[in-house]
Amino acid sequence: MRWPKGLTGLCYGGDYNPEQWPAEVWPTDVELMRRARVNLVTVGVFAWSRLEPQPGRYDFDWLDRVLDLLHDGGIRVALATPTASPPPWFSLRHPDALPVTADGVRLSHGSRDTYCASAPAYRAAAREIAVALAERYRDHPALALWHVHNEYGTTCHCEHVAVAFRAWLRARYGDLDSVNDAWTGSFWSQHYSGWEQIRPPRATQYLGNPSQLLDFRRFVSDELLAAYVEQRDLLRAATPDVPVTTNYVLGGWVPVDHARWSAEVDLVAIDHYPAEIGPGAEEQTAFAADLARSWARHGQRTGRAGRTAGPPEGRNPPGGPAWLLMESAPNLIITPDRMHAKEPGRMTRHSLAHVARGSRGAMFFQWRASRGGAEVFHSALVPHAGPDSRAFREAVSLGALLARLSEVDAGTVRARVAIAWDAASWWALQATVLPSAQLDYAAEVSAAHRALYRAGHPTDFVTDGDDLFGYALLVLPALYLVSDRYASRIRDYVAAGGHLLVSYFSGIADEHARVRVGGYPGALRDLLGIRVEEFHPLDPTIRLPLSDGSTGRLWAETVRLTGATPSVGYLGGLLDGQPALTRHGYGDGVAWYLSTRLDDDPYRDLLARVAEAAGAAPTCPAAQAGVEAVRRCTAEASWLFLLNHTDAPQTVPVSGVDLFTGVHVDRVVLPAGGCAVLRET
Ligand code: GLA
Repeated sequence: MRWPKGLTGLCYGGDYNPEQWPAEVWPTDVELMRRARVNLVTVGVFAWSRLEPQPGRYDFDWLDRVLDLLHDGGIRVALATPTASPPPWFSLRHPDALPVTADGVRLSHGSRDTYCASAPAYRAAAREIAVALAERYRDHPALALWHVHNEYGTTCHCEHVAVAFRAWLRARYGDLDSVNDAWTGSFWSQHYSGWEQIRPPRATQYLGNPSQLLDFRRFVSDELLAAYVEQRDLLRAATPDVPVTTNYVLGGWVPVDHARWSAEVDLVAIDHYPAEIGPGAEEQTAFAADLARSWARHGQRTGRAGRTAGPPEGRNPPGGPAWLLMESAPNLIITPDRMHAKEPGRMTRHSLAHVARGSRGAMFFQWRASRGGAEVFHSALVPHAGPDSRAFREAVSLGALLARLSEVDAGTVRARVAIAWDAASWWALQATVLPSAQLDYAAEVSAAHRALYRAGHPTDFVTDGDDLFGYALLVLPALYLVSDRYASRIRDYVAAGGHLLVSYFSGIADEHARVRVGGYPGALRDLLGIRVEEFHPLDPTIRLPLSDGSTGRLWAETVRLTGATPSVGYLGGLLDGQPALTRHGYGDGVAWYLSTRLDDDPYRDLLARVAEAAGAAPTCPAAQAGVEAVRRCTAEASWLFLLNHTDAPQTVPVSGVDLFTGVHVDRVVLPAGGCAVLRET
């Protein structure tokens, strides 16, 4: 993991699209950026048609001027390759590089992301524009970071993809028998007798094959990664001292396994747009930030930097694996119905919430609001109203705040609690006809994270292969796919003294989405000391009373004890007296099993109890509900972030130097919606 060249302190800025504006605006932009203390901007993300107006004919003059102006203003540049948006001439010239949907429809030019990542013509054109940019700007003093592409995430089902998918399958399985076996080819006569018979999963008469769909998602992730790596290697060859990254987009539709990708980027960069306007926005922010930090850690361990004996001096920033909030919306939360204007102070709070959880700064989409185009009403640091606006004034004050916080960049977030995260389980649950339409991987993982967030714990996410032993508590929510190897690593963790809480629909199937028979959850039965005979998916209106006074919903199970002791039971109905929550001592550790969905408050209480028993303490027990407390620390120092998400003032009895004011305090008074960062003493 590496840090933008020539940048110290926290990054502040965002996407800057000067190609949308006349040149007279550019010096004003730089002047305003300086006023706001912007120090990093991403330039050229969607500028391909301006950079290469005709095949092989480049126009770099305007970009030369922009980069010079930025450099003169002391602003560093994350220079983007514009490959997420090929120009019209490209699509007309190479119709075979336009993507084909699962319904077999070839899309037309007219938006962004309209390309097939497996089309040789697209890949060649992407390499050429990347090399042209690298040659032109390799020595430009403003160049701090390469920003490859934008939000990799497109899928195509064309003939190029069919060829690439078969090659990927050959590499993964070796022979066709293994594919047939992994995909349960004997079901519905889907046994393949020749590689050429295998196609990307297109629209078909009835249900598709879940294992094929799962492998297709894995393939798309690897195929897009190969496209990224191709550009990265060309850029690295031209500028070995400039780090390379790409910005991740988050969402159920995204066919990218970000943990796996993180071994290939020099710093993890995420875009984050909460989808709720209430307190859910803050919970989603914490979730995304914890994920990004965990991907960075995973990448550092599995990637190039992680494979060396120790990080070369100066290569890794001191604050642990690098990640950066690359995009967020300055003044809007976009919901399906409306764009909600962020309340004054919320942009600052959301930004600090990311920094608290390890982001090396706060970046936005975008610098100046566009005056036309598909995202004309998206918010910006400089809104349509111009700099004489509340939004720009908050941007200026955020820049000043971040400048005062630069020392926190040395600190790492140390979580004692982890949640398992698995892109393949998510994809498999999307592809399979499940016993309940309410069974939703992302919702299950979010519920566990929300419970820990509300209990005051920062949480890491772990994926298969991560070290588990440093955690006091590991939570597996709906971890549908568990390989033999992963199951044995989880067993070793508990046997060595770890505490584990598994919720329903975990360990059900192997890595090919084939159910493990003999009683659920096949991969974890012995560890949990239980055997589940039957599922009882519940109508969303039903609540099952539990013996501790809480209720279960959405899901229940017939759980047989094979070593575990019951802790909470079902009351009444079909499952009367049977266990809902069980506890099993295993080796030196403890394994809990939760067979139903708890409401948020009892789930928080349960995880708080289990975490405490495991020896994990919340960050700041004195913080009131609604006040988020997160700590970054080094061996010698620590910084406590306090974010008041309530609409009332809150006082937190903690002492230290308030970095906003430089004054030592013995208690922090947070105004409604306000924040503080303390250097703790
Ligand atoms: C994404 C993209 C940006 C822009 C924003 C709008 O994050 O990367 O180009 O479209 O969404 O929210």
